[in-house]
Amino acid sequence: MRKIYIFDTTLRDGEQSPGVNLNVQEKVEIGLQLEKLGIDRIEAGFPAASPGDLAAVGAVARAVKNATIIGLARSREQDIEAVREALALAQDPCIHLFLATSPIHRKHKLRMEKHQVLEAAEAAIKYAKKYFSKIEFSPEDAGRTELDFLCEVTEMAIRAGATVVNIPDTVGYMTPSEFGNIFKTLKDNVRGIEKIQLSAHCHDDLGMATANALAAVLNGADQIEGTINGIGERAGNTSLEEVAMALETRQEFFQAKTGLVLGEIYRTSRLVSKLTGMVVPGNKAIVGANAFAHESGIHQDGMLKEKTTYEIMSPETIGLKESKLVMGKHSGRHAFREKLVDLGYELEGEQLNVAFAKFKDLADRKKNVSDEDLRALIEEKLVATPEVFAFDAIQVSYSNQSAPSATVRLHHEGQAIEVSAEGNGSVDAIYMAIDKATEEEVELDDYSIQSVTQGKDALGEVHVVLKQNGISVSGRGVSTDILEASAKAYIDAINRLIDKRKSPGAGRRDNVSLI
Ligand code: KIV
Ligand code: ZN
Repeated sequence: MRKIYIFDTTLRDGEQSPGVNLNVQEKVEIGLQLEKLGIDRIEAGFPAASPGDLAAVGAVARAVKNATIIGLARSREQDIEAVREALALAQDPCIHLFLATSPIHRKHKLRMEKHQVLEAAEAAIKYAKKYFSKIEFSPEDAGRTELDFLCEVTEMAIRAGATVVNIPDTVGYMTPSEFGNIFKTLKDNVRGIEKIQLSAHCHDDLGMATANALAAVLNGADQIEGTINGIGERAGNTSLEEVAMALETRQEFFQAKTGLVLGEIYRTSRLVSKLTGMVVPGNKAIVGANAFAHESGIHQDGMLKEKTTYEIMSPETIGLKESKLVMGKHSGRHAFREKLVDLGYELEGEQLNVAFAKFKDLADRKKNVSDEDLRALIEEKLVATPEVFAFDAIQVSYSNQSAPSATVRLHHEGQAIEVSAEGNGSVDAIYMAIDKATEEEVELDDYSIQSVTQGKDALGEVHVVLKQNGISVSGRGVSTDILEASAKAYIDAINRLIDKRKSPGAGRRDNVSLI
């Protein structure tokens, strides 16, 4: 079996998803989980984009020991220097250089002729070679680049010292047979191709990112790039969990496998969803809530007789297991801790105390606390943003005859603040009151709500995205009451905003052109 290297760009391309803005601590948290998942190469950010991104790449490089850490750079000396600085303490650093090569990009974006593109890329690779033994080069928009020119660029990159040449379908335009053919053509025609690894980087604009990546594998790609849950610019990137499970489930067909720890897939997916605020759709392959649910009677009957009738992979493989311990208000601390270990969370000391108190509170409101409820509760506070404002209580008065009003009580610097406001609806009234209490002027950019489990007493999970002066942050709140969940999500986002203002965003690169 050929090994396929997995290059994760959740922290770079994934963070380019609209509304996603991870801080340094969150990037490190995801980096450590990617390490547990067995990712070979982690693209931690784009250091030249902002001081915050440079700091975050550095922090990930210091924290993660068992993966190559990569920083992205345009083909410019100042970008290469920024990656150098960010990766100074990385155990296994790598620089990822890119320059667009397609006719459209050459003409309209770069205003460069072919020979100028070749010269600029060659100069950048040679400059980077002085400091990095591992260099990946990406001819951006390779999918729409003339094949003979792509061969020329690849040959130049190999001569100049690149160790990986990545083929990006930057705009998600390729079909699997076309994309596969690029790899075959490069393999057959480029001198020195055996000295480097070929990589595939696909976007999902036409819903073909995973199919294209797998076509690349069939045609000799050594590495697949993508993100967890397929998040990323526009329609997103190749979903790494889909690639991993396709190679696992169809091993004989692909004759290739990844080194991923598949049992960490589900946990990684949840962590990324929680920290980015990007909710995983229920029907998403592999990690969606319905991916292993069987609804129709015929399917259920088949499943009861023999699982393989309707299940091509088992949920346990990706770490999704329902454990036997049923949790309720009589469950003690020991059982609670065991249950968490079962679900993959090892909490100790104060963290365990807080989680246990939250569980007891939930068990008072809800008869049976499911695994999903527990995951939602624990993950709510997994990465603690300093609680400048802490939620205490809300009271809402609603009538369809008059404007709803809300009173909110928060704690701030040891003092309780209680403020009332009216709004267009109950949630609006709560948010008006929180705005007054925190004295923050924010714009609500997105609000979404979903139920964690079924039933009238299910936990509701609210995600919000707030904007202030070009900074965008997400927040999450969980409660059996959706108004309370809404308040918690909003306060969480405000705390993140305050934190972000203190230590500038890790990944905001709105003003940096990818040229
Ligand atoms: O999609 C793309 O072309 C990229 C490059 C920077 C590799 O993300
Ligand atoms: Zn990309």
